[in-house]
Amino acid sequence: MYMSVVTNAALDLPGNPLRQLTLDQLRQRTSAKWRTHPADVLPLWVAEMDVLVAEPIAKAVTDAMAAGDTGYPSGSGYAEAVAAFAAERWSWDLDPDRVRTVPDMMLGVVEMIKVLTRPGDAVVINSPVYPPFHRFPAFNGRKVIEAPLGPDHRIDFAALAEAFELALGRGGRAVYLLCSPHNPTGTVHARAELERVARLSADYGVRVVADEAHAPLVAPDAAFTPYLAVAGAADGLAVTSAAKAWNLPGLRGAVAMAGPDAAVDLARMPEEMSTSISHLGALAHAAAFREGGPWLDALVADLAENRRLLAAAVAEHLPQARYRPQPGTYLAWLDCRDLGLGDDPAAHFLERARVAVNSGLPFGTGGKGHVRLNYATTPEILTEAVERMGASLN
Ligand SMILES: Cc1ncc(COP(=O)(O)O)c(C=O)c1O
Repeated sequence: MYMSVVTNAALDLPGNPLRQLTLDQLRQRTSAKWRTHPADVLPLWVAEMDVLVAEPIAKAVTDAMAAGDTGYPSGSGYAEAVAAFAAERWSWDLDPDRVRTVPDMMLGVVEMIKVLTRPGDAVVINSPVYPPFHRFPAFNGRKVIEAPLGPDHRIDFAALAEAFELALGRGGRAVYLLCSPHNPTGTVHARAELERVARLSADYGVRVVADEAHAPLVAPDAAFTPYLAVAGAADGLAVTSAAKAWNLPGLRGAVAMAGPDAAVDLARMPEEMSTSISHLGALAHAAAFREGGPWLDALVADLAENRRLLAAAVAEHLPQARYRPQPGTYLAWLDCRDLGLGDDPAAHFLERARVAVNSGLPFGTGGKGHVRLNYATTPEILTEAVERMGASLN
């Protein structure tokens, strides 16, 4: 079944993961990216990639299906695979005993916030940021406080200290929900910045929860640093997953991780958090971390190429838009304020260019007049989308 979908592309794996599918093939997909908008729209919005599944992952899932191995999850294969990947790629010694599976990234994040704070307490975030960072803590009765990124898209430590003051002002507890690497800007926080986060948080008594959904995707020259690996982060918590880097949102899963002084907090997360991961999700994610390295390297190379292509296309077709290429994620944060399209240029691009990008507005302060564009697609689709966006201004 898998092979019949792959056809010629199988010969090219891991080759160029972003050059293996045509627009017609992609339009057969039934996932959110391809079914939310009419067929004349090029979808460059939600964080799904236009790739085939890496061969070791497809094999793990199809082997399980062939064997009828579709029962409940068991064992620590996912945690061990993440630990092995962390040792090899990030020179980080993660103790699998301080790792628990969770159903997905955001459920893990929410559960950590629930363990560390009470309703009415504060969650500090760096806007503009992934919209669920605003919504999910708020659904759970936490007060969300923004510490906007600086104009260079990096953490503004003065704003962060101010937000911590505000967060603790009423005598409660606070969590700093760090997005590392940062969605939507693609910023990869440097080790020195993360150490400063740890120091500042310790000074204020704020607990850090690091969302590292995009961690494996960082280009080697930018060096991703896990938050829990930095000095002073012993009481931190973090979540990561294969979902973004290997395009597995359809096979949900993630792991929650704790520094040595936060192991007790990880243990307080409810039992159903760990047992609710799907068995096939856990198998797929473990295969990704364990055997998906060559495919990931090929993908990261294709993304670097697309990033260059996008910068050139924006310069040519949208010269008044500003794009600051960053080494993390496959998301580009475009400042369209000089295009004269108002606060929500995404609405214009959807209507007039038939290109779906994310509106910057739900990303919080700093989102007005911005759009987020997902460039994990083929060079042809990417080029056509930016051409259409440029032509829509005439
Ligand atoms: C920073 C970040 N966290 C979490 C998620 C969502 O992960 P999940 O679907 O596993 O909850 C995403 C998805 O794009 C993301 O970019």
